[in-house]
Amino acid sequence: MSKHIIPHSYQISKKDRIASNKHNSFLIWFTGLSGSGKSTIANLVEKALFENGVNTYSLDGDNIRKGINNDLSFAPEDRTENIRRIAEIANLMIDAGLVVLAAFVSPYKKDRENIRTIVKDVNFVEVYINTSIEECERRDVKGLYKKARAGEIKNMTGISAPYEAPEQPDIEIKTEDESIEDSVKRIVDFITPKLQLNNE
Ligand code: ADX
Repeated sequence: MSKHIIPHSYQISKKDRIASNKHNSFLIWFTGLSGSGKSTIANLVEKALFENGVNTYSLDGDNIRKGINNDLSFAPEDRTENIRRIAEIANLMIDAGLVVLAAFVSPYKKDRENIRTIVKDVNFVEVYINTSIEECERRDVKGLYKKARAGEIKNMTGISAPYEAPEQPDIEIKTEDESIEDSVKRIVDFITPKLQLNNE
């Protein structure tokens, strides 16, 4: 941070906002291959939370890579910058009192560690959507794997670019073994205690 940027102290703090919302704010980060089911599961988790009165917001490729990050490619350094900016945006949203759900491939371990540093460990829940490359390629919802095999897409995660799986995610969902309903319930059950404000 530049030494000439002096933080202003605001009248309304994060503490005021979470007290008004009656729940804590934090980031639920979904990582996994393209087509693994990240967005589907994240959307259902958001729906369950929202219906319980939780103030939420979802970030994904549709609203980030088409907007603020439309200058970034899938080269490793651009993916790093993609994730860094998303983490900073999520950090502002946490400050605004929201439970943020972010679904991004985020294939590099160091980039996911950087998110943890930006938003702070206590505000970060890592959910690994573990679907095998074979199954993602079989589903090929967006037709991208076919294009990658044909050499029309470079740096395709799982085909011509790496995916570094989390070693100790907070939650791991094996979508080939577990139903969507059970997966969503497991995530909601995990985060429910984190929502509760401590009475001081
Ligand atoms: S990340 O690696 O930088 O985290 P991000 O989640 O934003 O990726 O975007 C991934 C989405 O972009 C995929 O779900 C897929 O739809 C699309 N995509 C296009 N090209 C690629 C590629 N080369 N590798 C992975 N995903 C790609």
